[in-house]
Amino acid sequence: MPETRILMFDSGVGGISVFKDIKARLPWVSCTYAFDNEAYPYGELEQDKLLERVEKYVSYFIETQNIALVVIACNTASTVVLPKLRAKFSVPIVGVVPAIKPASKISHQGVGIIATPATVTREYTRDLIKHFASDKEIKMIGTTELVDMAEQKLRGVKVDLVALQKVLQPLQGCVDVAVLGCTHFPLLRREIGQVLGREVELVDSGEAISRRVAYLLQQNTKDTTAPVNYDAYCSAEPYAKSALQISFTELGFSKIKIQPL
Ligand code: DGL
Repeated sequence: MPETRILMFDSGVGGISVFKDIKARLPWVSCTYAFDNEAYPYGELEQDKLLERVEKYVSYFIETQNIALVVIACNTASTVVLPKLRAKFSVPIVGVVPAIKPASKISHQGVGIIATPATVTREYTRDLIKHFASDKEIKMIGTTELVDMAEQKLRGVKVDLVALQKVLQPLQGCVDVAVLGCTHFPLLRREIGQVLGREVELVDSGEAISRRVAYLLQQNTKDTTAPVNYDAYCSAEPYAKSALQISFTELGFSKIKIQPL
């Protein structure tokens, strides 16, 4: 039986948080992890440019590899690209959007949404709040600084808790649940938890996404004999590549390859 391979896509290392959940649930599934670091950060990229880049990069991998399913492991991209990708490709496209609905269900005091500057302004996010959290006090933080911190952490740099505290300050004392609305942020879960304290529950979409992927790949779950491979590609030479490679190797990835857009 041939391997089952999924494509995971992000602007940087954020999708790795989702990859970990998928790997834990579906260890027999191979993965191509592609990140568009040339246009990073997506949270500050103009919407048309983002649409164009995601479509082009995803198309390349669907056309050149045997991809069974695509995960857009980026909230910022998912809030805009999903309809276009689903109209163009026949493989299932799974998106990641801020976990506002589950967060609202468990919150009594108020919900904090930590996401990229783009995600906090998107209509998609406003609609999620309107439909699932209209009865809750909402506090939003749009930050690229935290995205950068996650990129650095995967390159072995220690997270600056004082800087993190400054960014998260607006949430302190006024929310009991915080949505990690960018896939980079679960990579900082421990540090965010340290700053916000135990009384604030942190919610992300990783596990729900892994369940969705498992459901959509169901017909393939019996194939446990094919070897599993994790390949990583990026659109430009990543900074501190060798430090980054250490984290990728630990996760089971082969050498990070550069595949220009
Ligand atoms: N990881 C991304 C997200 O989930 C995007 C981060 C960025 O490039 O700004 O939103």
